[in-house]
Amino acid sequence: MLRDRRILLIISGGIAAYKSLDLIRRLRERGAAVRCIMTVAAKHFVTPLSVASLSEDKVYDDLWSLTDESEIGHIRLSREADLVLAAPASADLIARMAAGLADDLATTALLASDKPILIAPTMNLMMWAHPATQSNLATLDARGVMRVGPGSGDLACGEVGSGRMAEPLEIVAAIEQVLTGAKRLVGRRALVTSGPTREPIDPVRYISNHSSGKQGHAIAAALATLGAETVLVSGPTQEPTPAGVKLVAVETAAEMLAACEAALPVDVAVMAAAVADWRIETAALHKLKKDGGRPPVLRLAENPDILSRIAQRSNDRPTLVIGFAAETNEVVENARIKLGRKHCDWILANDVSLGTGTFGGDRNTIHLVEAAGVEDWPVMTKREVAARLADRIAGSLGYPPLHPP
Ligand code: C5P
Repeated sequence: MLRDRRILLIISGGIAAYKSLDLIRRLRERGAAVRCIMTVAAKHFVTPLSVASLSEDKVYDDLWSLTDESEIGHIRLSREADLVLAAPASADLIARMAAGLADDLATTALLASDKPILIAPTMNLMMWAHPATQSNLATLDARGVMRVGPGSGDLACGEVGSGRMAEPLEIVAAIEQVLTGAKRLVGRRALVTSGPTREPIDPVRYISNHSSGKQGHAIAAALATLGAETVLVSGPTQEPTPAGVKLVAVETAAEMLAACEAALPVDVAVMAAAVADWRIETAALHKLKKDGGRPPVLRLAENPDILSRIAQRSNDRPTLVIGFAAETNEVVENARIKLGRKHCDWILANDVSLGTGTFGGDRNTIHLVEAAGVEDWPVMTKREVAARLADRIAGSLGYPPLHPP
């Protein structure tokens, strides 16, 4: 919680400024007071009226305002805050911070601050990778300026890569960490599965699926951010291993099950892997040859259902076992059936019907189905889903949820 904490939010110019509006709401619902400074460029992206309405305070934007200076002054503006947050922090703002400029209210407040400073950078990936930006960031790092994000994914400019501003809930978690040291899952153990499995046909061939591992990895990262000791059991993916997470790399469903069982006991298990339903009954020891002209016949055998195995452990069942369900129709009803069949506590049902853009994309439409009812979540990025899920898990394991349904 951030009750009575005072955040000075500096909004600079970037398309991600729209996320700052949601960020203000998230901070306000946690009890924080949010005072905002907008740069000239920021006002091209969001209106001061929206920012003022959501923050329930006036917006500061003018270094030369006689009224503002006589009422509060730019020094007090930054001194009265518990934390100064620049979100979005554009390449330009970062450069001006690194150079120590004070040519507008935002940079002046930053320069005059004696409080922790957190930035959430966002920019085009070439701008991010540019040596000038990287050297500016190194300068800020050396001065103790903290950073959350950026993440990688689709950028507003149409390119894909590093440069997306961290999601509001990630930023909130970072602020909570800085201000309260709050890691709500400290002392808890988490197990997450992610990615596809590979089932060998022979030593060089396999059957698998297109799972990217994005959602599972993001969940492991979000749980670790909240302080959980997190084991990520993953099939082969392109995703980097999240910081603070113990990766157990596996290939087959059988290996995944063994690794999951070895990770027990845990408080929460989130099964986000796309486990192959079948394996080749007997994989060939040597590479199958084309000779003879007759193609081989592959006999399939059913793979273990890892989710229901973990959910039905008698002595060391995790307190919370969570599965995913990709559905194209009767999404909630089918998820309810799956909840019972797999004996898990929550199913995150995912609408993958045509037009939702879920498959391979960065966005998910989730319905959290539990015995007590259904929570419909708005369309979110996979990282937002991860942050919200981690938040709900922390709530369910004994802390008050930050996101009441
Ligand atoms: O039955 P279905 O594959 O739709 O169930 C999806 C859920 O079950 C996911 O959480 C997935 O990780 C899990 N699962 C599993 N082992 C399997 C098949 C699915 O853990 N063999």
